[in-house]
Amino acid sequence: MQHFTSVHDVADPAALVQSALELKQSPPEDLLSIGQHKTMVLLFFNPSLRTRLSTQKAGLSLGMQVMVHNAGQGWQLEFEDGAIMNADKAEHVKEAAGVISQYADIIGVRTFPSLTDCERDYQDFILEQFKTHAKVPVLSLESAIRHPLQSLADWVTIAEHRPAHRPKVVLSWAPHPKALPQAVANSFLEWMQVADMDLCLTHPEGYELAPEFVGDTPVIYDQKRALEGADFVYVKNWSPYQAYGQVQNQDARWMISPEKMAVTNNGRFMHCLPVRRNVVVSDTVIDSPRSLHLEQSNNRTWAAMAAIKELLKSQ
Ligand code: CP
Repeated sequence: MQHFTSVHDVADPAALVQSALELKQSPPEDLLSIGQHKTMVLLFFNPSLRTRLSTQKAGLSLGMQVMVHNAGQGWQLEFEDGAIMNADKAEHVKEAAGVISQYADIIGVRTFPSLTDCERDYQDFILEQFKTHAKVPVLSLESAIRHPLQSLADWVTIAEHRPAHRPKVVLSWAPHPKALPQAVANSFLEWMQVADMDLCLTHPEGYELAPEFVGDTPVIYDQKRALEGADFVYVKNWSPYQAYGQVQNQDARWMISPEKMAVTNNGRFMHCLPVRRNVVVSDTVIDSPRSLHLEQSNNRTWAAMAAIKELLKSQ
């Protein structure tokens, strides 16, 4: 695996899920030797709690040296080729990525979308610039349009609770007061589409995701109908792709409540966190034993370990 930036980088996603499960259930005795004498630099252009700590923990658990840099603070990087750098940008990504590649065996990058420039965001411009100019593998810590480490952890969590039958998995939009990226939802669809799941998507009209991510996934605009018989209810807010980045709907009737969960197949509630209680989901649902949100965060570490292990193999 050259980079880990989307499901398309992974030759066998189901095998990577299995690798994460094996690391969790029976870690090898030589775990620390996997990343011995290797260094990982994690660049955060945007805030994080789970990704930052779980990826750092994953690297340390594999015996790596891990350095975390708040790239969003301090001087700004220039990403445009041929830029005349006479304004606020102090360093070009060509130098920054080249320099960090001398210190690191893997570079992790978290970079959120602008939510104002759809075309540039959907080119995943900043992540792609790092992939172009880094001399070592790039690990996405959530980009403008994808969050593959989250999706891998989500698949691991579903695998641990998979019923005997082919599970029905519903990705449901829920309200939020702020404009949020589409990355988690895009990525969840992308990973679930290659898993053996009965997948569907529900959201208000106007909240369609980018067609390249929806693919053949059925879209049901009636949330309650979509939730009927669901084994897993994956809840996430995203801002619109068409009316790009605008909050157009805060309809509280889309919040996940016990009444909504009552039509599922005793379904499990899932959310990547952070979550706004009693806006996205009611306390009763998230505090119930059917909620998997903390297991998902736990699995972020095992997912990251599996991905990092694959990246180290390629060196
Ligand atoms: N789910 C997730 O990526 O959480 P953080 O934003 O805290 O990293």
